[in-house]
Amino acid sequence: MTRQFFVGGNFKMNPATREAKIALAKVLNEATIDPSVEVVIAPPAIYLISLQDVLRKDIKVAAQNCYFKTSGAFTGETSPAQLADSKIPYVILGHSERRTLFHENSNEVAQKTRAALDAGISVILCVGETLSEREAGQTAQVVQAQLEPVIAVLKPEDWSKIVVAYEPVWAIGTGKVASSAQAQEAHADIRSFLASKVSAAVAESTRIIYGGSVTAANCQDLSKQTDVDGFLVGGASLKPEFINIINARQ
Ligand code: G3P
Repeated sequence: MTRQFFVGGNFKMNPATREAKIALAKVLNEATIDPSVEVVIAPPAIYLISLQDVLRKDIKVAAQNCYFKTSGAFTGETSPAQLADSKIPYVILGHSERRTLFHENSNEVAQKTRAALDAGISVILCVGETLSEREAGQTAQVVQAQLEPVIAVLKPEDWSKIVVAYEPVWAIGTGKVASSAQAQEAHADIRSFLASKVSAAVAESTRIIYGGSVTAANCQDLSKQTDVDGFLVGGASLKPEFINIINARQ
């Protein structure tokens, strides 16, 4: 089966000004992009609605996080219901920076995933190992442990709203991109784990995208890997080369 190629741009806490945000939107609106690719960009929450209002209709937006409650005394948080009310179709959950800097664990990521799906929001679900875990040969074990709590709260039909992002922590923001072989191996492990824990159909249809120092220079070879269904791009999503990454398969 063919899985629609997916390219996400995780702006993280960038850009710092509205002027820069408008400039980014202009680059995207004027770009020639492969119509077969699903493109989703994740700006800081403060820019989500204004960016969605000016973006071309074939590019979607994603929040970079959300809470699992609908409303209440949770200072600083955004609820899935508020994202849905604002017509925001995607949310990134479990990003390694949320796990390391803000101490989110996989049970919380599962709780948020369930709440996002219940609100009708699709989820870009991030998993990945640290360098020491990779060097200890624990990549598959770590990634499976991150997936298990999510698998436990999802029904098979929920997986059509999930994009799994394999983002090795040691490749994020470091310039040390995973080799195509490393990415393919990790993606294939995730796919076979989904086959064993959910179903062969879900494993086959779920998009598994790679993130971690993706650039215009390395995206084409990575995109040729059987189980690489796209990218979640950080730094390069803020640069014109993001368009080349979107068009990697052309
Ligand atoms: O979510 C994508 C991000 O973690 C990757 O960042 O800058 O290594 O492309 P970067």
